[in-house]
This record gives sequence, structure tokens and C-alpha cells, in this order.
Amino acid sequence: RVVAVIMVGGPTKGTRFRPLSFNVPKPLFPLAGQPMIHHPISACCRIPNLAQIYLIGFYEEREFALYVSSISNELRIPVRYLREDKPHGSAGGLYNFRDYIMEDSPSHIFLLNCDVCCSFPLPDMLEAHKSYGGMGTILVIKVSAESANQFGELVADPVTKELLHYTEKPETFVSDLINCGVYIFTPNIFSAIHGAFTQRKDRANLQRVTSFEALQSATKALPTDYVRLDQDILSPLAGKKELYTYETLDFWEQIKTPGISLKCSALYLSQFCHTSPQLLAGSATKSATIIGDVYIHPSAKVHASAKIGPNVSISANARIGAGARLISCIILDDVEIKENAVVIHAIVGWKSSIGKWSRVQGEGDYNAKLGITILGEAVVVEDEVVVINSIVLPNKTLNDSVQEEIIL
Ligand code: GDD
Repeated sequence: RVVAVIMVGGPTKGTRFRPLSFNVPKPLFPLAGQPMIHHPISACCRIPNLAQIYLIGFYEEREFALYVSSISNELRIPVRYLREDKPHGSAGGLYNFRDYIMEDSPSHIFLLNCDVCCSFPLPDMLEAHKSYGGMGTILVIKVSAESANQFGELVADPVTKELLHYTEKPETFVSDLINCGVYIFTPNIFSAIHGAFTQRKDRANLQRVTSFEALQSATKALPTDYVRLDQDILSPLAGKKELYTYETLDFWEQIKTPGISLKCSALYLSQFCHTSPQLLAGSATKSATIIGDVYIHPSAKVHASAKIGPNVSISANARIGAGARLISCIILDDVEIKENAVVIHAIVGWKSSIGKWSRVQGEGDYNAKLGITILGEAVVVEDEVVVINSIVLPNKTLNDSVQEEIIL
């Protein structure tokens, strides 16, 4: 049997996702109309003999309760949220819940970061891992040399695929092959994490007795019950025939900012063409003109003369008026877009309203801070107002046009 664990982090993480993470924990923010973690969860359901999916995080239990119960029913796989009292690091969090994870005596454990967007080739990884042997296999991808330093950079044997060297976010270039944050491990991973804990405690004790100066640096160091998967486990295990790599040639993105989430929404919408075409709006399902990949929640009301797409997702109870034009945007619950308004490269927050003939637009540079326009919850853009490349915090009313501004 196999179990899957998704690390969801907590409220102190995901700060670059503001103002959207004020309303909803980042892992539940919708991409292609489905919560971010829905995508890895449905990928896990394609693993043969999957017994259970655990979400580990330090958000309040109630923030995940509704989602966890509805997704368990929908997919008929038990999904459970396990709450840490405080952050223990990506490996520490996993270790704390080892008794739950080992309940089904799994032969393999999948471990996924919640904030990555990819095709999650999990069954292929499992097959590859079985052929390599060892304690674990890491999903890896080649990225541009300039962007590699935001990730774990690694070197693998081109023939055996063994992980030979691993450095987390290095200052000087090591390799353009990076860690995708998707892993498969045998239960031996728990002994490796236990080893890292013991080592850290021993070192802290040693420093305490050796000198006052060392004591000072030890108190500044990480807590002894905090273990990071990358620095504390992967780096020391490289080159020991325990870890292997599986390279994906498909799409992969790390979702740290709202701009990237718009790009990921497009990637998932286009994946739906193969995996869940019933979720995409075709001209048959809505009378409006639909262009390219579009998701429209069944409760949303879209006027027949509106023109929608490509890369648009419209959430529950949104109302899109006559003659409105929507391109590359995420429209959240209860938004109203009035007649002839235009929304391009933008995220429109819950309960916001956009007036007649208004324009809410970004230039579409997903990597730039103001490359898309973001409206927080309950923002009112009055009639004939133009909002370009701006971020507007919740509950603001705009009666004048703005450009390249952050409205606090
Ligand atoms: N439950 C829990 N508790 N989750 C945590 C904790 C914790 O204490 N700390 C981090 N996480 C979760 C985050 O929510 C995220 O899903 C994942 O663990 C990794 O987060 P970070 O440790 O902050 O690393 P990162 O996202 O900057 O980089 C990692 O992922 C990249 C791929 O996206 C590294 O592993 C990189 O090497 C890798 O390239």
C-alpha cells in the first residue's frame, strides 16, 4: 500500500501571496476553479493502491475541515488534515505524524509540497523508484540557469540517476537541474529524520558546555525540533546510493505569488482538456462566447453577449454583465462585473464589483510585482474607471483611474 502526504505550511508562510491569502489559506486558493491542493490530491488518486492522503500544516483545523470532508466524499479516498502546534520544518512535520502515516503499513510514502504546479507524474515516479532502489526518488526538472538559485540545485548521475550532490538555493551556480518538491520515500526516511534530530540535539548540547560564544550562536540557531527536508536530509544523503532522481519534461512552476497563480491556472485549464474536459466551459454549456480554456462555476451567471477567454476561471455566484470582455483572469466568488467592463490579466477578489465600461488590466508579466492587477476582497471599481498594473487592498472604493499603484 501507498500513502501520500501534502505539506501545506501555515499562516506565517505564503506572505508573498497577499492580499489574496487574507481570506483563504493559500493552499485553498482556486486555480482553474479548484483549490490549489485539489490538483495534487487528484493526481494522488491515480496512484495504484493509495490508502490515504494526509495534509500536514499549522493552519487552524477549522480552515481545512470543510474542504477535507467534501474532497474525501467526492474522491472516495480518506483525506485527513493533521495540525502541527507550530512549524517543525518540512521533514520535522512529517516525522511528528509518523504514527498516523505508518497506520496502513505503507511500502512507499509520497511527499508533495502544496505550492507546486505540475502534471504530477506519480505512478511513473513509483515505477522508476522501484527500479532504482534506495530510500527515495526526487522529481527534478531543468530550468534556466538564471532562475535555478531560487530552488534546490542538484547534480545527478546521467546513467544511474543517483543524486550525487544537493545544495539548497545556492549563492553560486551549481546546476540547472532543480528539486520540484515532489518525492517518493520508503519508511526508512523516518530513521534518516530521526538521525538528523539526534545530531542537532547533540550539537546543541556540546555547544552549551563548550563556550559562552558558542552558546550565543546556538540560541540563534534553529530549534532542535526543527528539521528541513532539503538542507538537513537531502544534502547529507547525496552520493550515498540512497536518493535518485526522476526528471519531468512536462510543465512545472512554483506558486509563490499571485502573478504565477494566474499562469498556473492556465496550465491546469489546459491540462483539463485531457484529464477533466467536463470541467471546461464549451459553447454548449453557456450561451456566452467562449474562447480557449475557460472554467465557469455552475452557479455563476454569464450574459449571452459577454466574451470570455482564454484562461479565465469564474467562481461561484459571480455575475458577468452584457458585453463584458474577460481575458486571462481569475474571478472569485460573488463578484459582479457590470455591462461592457473589461478584465485582462487580473485577479478580482471575493464580492468585488466592477462598474460599467470600466477596465481592470495588467500587462501580463506574471513574474513582475505589478505585472497583473489584483483586487482584494470587496473592492468597488466605479463606472468608467481604469485600473492598470495595480494592487488594491480589501474594502477600497476606486472612483478615479490608477496605474502602477499599490492602494493600501
Ligand atoms: N506542515 C509544515 N510545517 N509544512 C511546512 C513547514 C512546516 O514547518 N515548512 C515548510 N512547509 C511546507 C511549505 O508549505 C511548502 O509546501 C513546503 O513545505 C516547502 O516549503 P519550504 O521549506 O519553505 O521550501 P521552498 O518552498 O522555499 O523550497 C522547497 O521547494 C522547492 C520546490 O518548490 C525546496 O525543497 C526547494 O529545494 C524546491 O526547489
